[in-house]
Amino acid sequence: MSTSAPPSRDAFASTLGAFAATLGSAIGLGNIWKFPYLTGSNGGAAFVLVYLLAVAFVGLPILVVEHTIGRKMRLNAVHAYGTVVPGQKFWAGVGLAGVAAAVLIMAFYTDVAGWVFAYVYKSFAAFLSGSTLDSKTFGALAGGSWEPLLWQAGVLVLTTAIIASGVSKGIEKVTKTLMPALFILLIICDIRALTLPGAGAGVTYLFKPQLSKLSASIVLYALGLAFFKLSLGMGTMTTYGSYLPDDVRIVPNAAKVALADTGVSLLAGLAIFPAVFAFGGKPAGGPGLLFNTIPLIFSKMPLGGLFTMLFFVLTAIATIGAMVSLIEVPVAWIIEKGHMTRRGAAILTGVVMFALGIPATLSQNPLLANVKLFGKSFFDLFDFASSNVLLPLGGLAIAVLGGWFLSRPEFKAEMNKGYATEPWHGRALFGILKFVTPILILLVLLSSLGVIKL
Ligand code: TRP
Repeated sequence: MSTSAPPSRDAFASTLGAFAATLGSAIGLGNIWKFPYLTGSNGGAAFVLVYLLAVAFVGLPILVVEHTIGRKMRLNAVHAYGTVVPGQKFWAGVGLAGVAAAVLIMAFYTDVAGWVFAYVYKSFAAFLSGSTLDSKTFGALAGGSWEPLLWQAGVLVLTTAIIASGVSKGIEKVTKTLMPALFILLIICDIRALTLPGAGAGVTYLFKPQLSKLSASIVLYALGLAFFKLSLGMGTMTTYGSYLPDDVRIVPNAAKVALADTGVSLLAGLAIFPAVFAFGGKPAGGPGLLFNTIPLIFSKMPLGGLFTMLFFVLTAIATIGAMVSLIEVPVAWIIEKGHMTRRGAAILTGVVMFALGIPATLSQNPLLANVKLFGKSFFDLFDFASSNVLLPLGGLAIAVLGGWFLSRPEFKAEMNKGYATEPWHGRALFGILKFVTPILILLVLLSSLGVIKL
């Protein structure tokens, strides 16, 4: 495709490619960095339990709506939502809020991705010199100035280059080839962590809920994670839906994506918590948990340095598919507004993301460490405002739109394409979408604002 050609729509070349690319967007730092760190700071298994419920009753139905609207409209998210109900242009707000959310998420996501890429390099250097990474490594990196910024810039350049190369050629190839490698490496990490003496306490921590630990804030974080994990509430999955071939059965495909994604999070948890307990660490280690724990897991085993490096290579791979899908939302919108080539749109978006990323990245630097907005650092604020506010609000609008405002026969026809009659799961899902999903989101949002007490 020549970059100066008028915008034409790419599509995923195959059903497997569509599944892999969707999964490639879902799987990322959310599984390997955020899921373990939120689980650790929210009391373990009780959080996991609420999270699983949130995926089933909120995440999955919204994923289905996004794919359905995307494929039906075959447009970028802003234009898809703006035209999906005739005469109701205001739904475009969902897509526009999504563009804002994408930029906000990328501002801190690329910071963490930068740490991951830095750890690939650092663990390799340590392996070559026969040393190991310790807890000072992370503090020095995250609290630095030029170093984390340069890694972040590097990550953005890489993502921008992939997105500039086009949908099917870029995203699909990268994710399809790299996904299986990720599973295998994660399982190696699990085996190592689970065979450490004292690992059992970590398994209990992850899977045996203490319901007394439940609170409104845990529920809010679990819901936010469900949105973040499945890339929901802001148009990523709508945009990906617009590239889905007609022979993909939307509900089973979405269910498989949700299952596989959740499985990867649990595999990451099974690597991290047994090790945290075996080494007498603290589960509530915050955003540094991953970076401080993984080198420890492997430090006491032969070739440990090499395994540490493999782990961060794996994580780096996972971040790429996710970042590509985030940057694709604003890029698809800019291109289809018709004023820019894919390449120009990608570069513009990358530059804006980097500009916002600077305060997020420097928020652990002494320079900005004491600057707080609403009691939060820039990093925490971007994270909180996107996952726990913008995405659930977007999701609420999408659920209400799908359940109540779209023409039901048209919606169901698109969702159930590939079936001669309406399958049971299509019927069940629509019922959940209409009544359960919006009420759950609304309750959680209202209780986190203190309007009601759960
Ligand atoms: N789901 C990805 C992860 O877990 C992050 C991500 C990619 C995302 N695209 C998104 C989050 C869109 C929210 C919205 O790492």
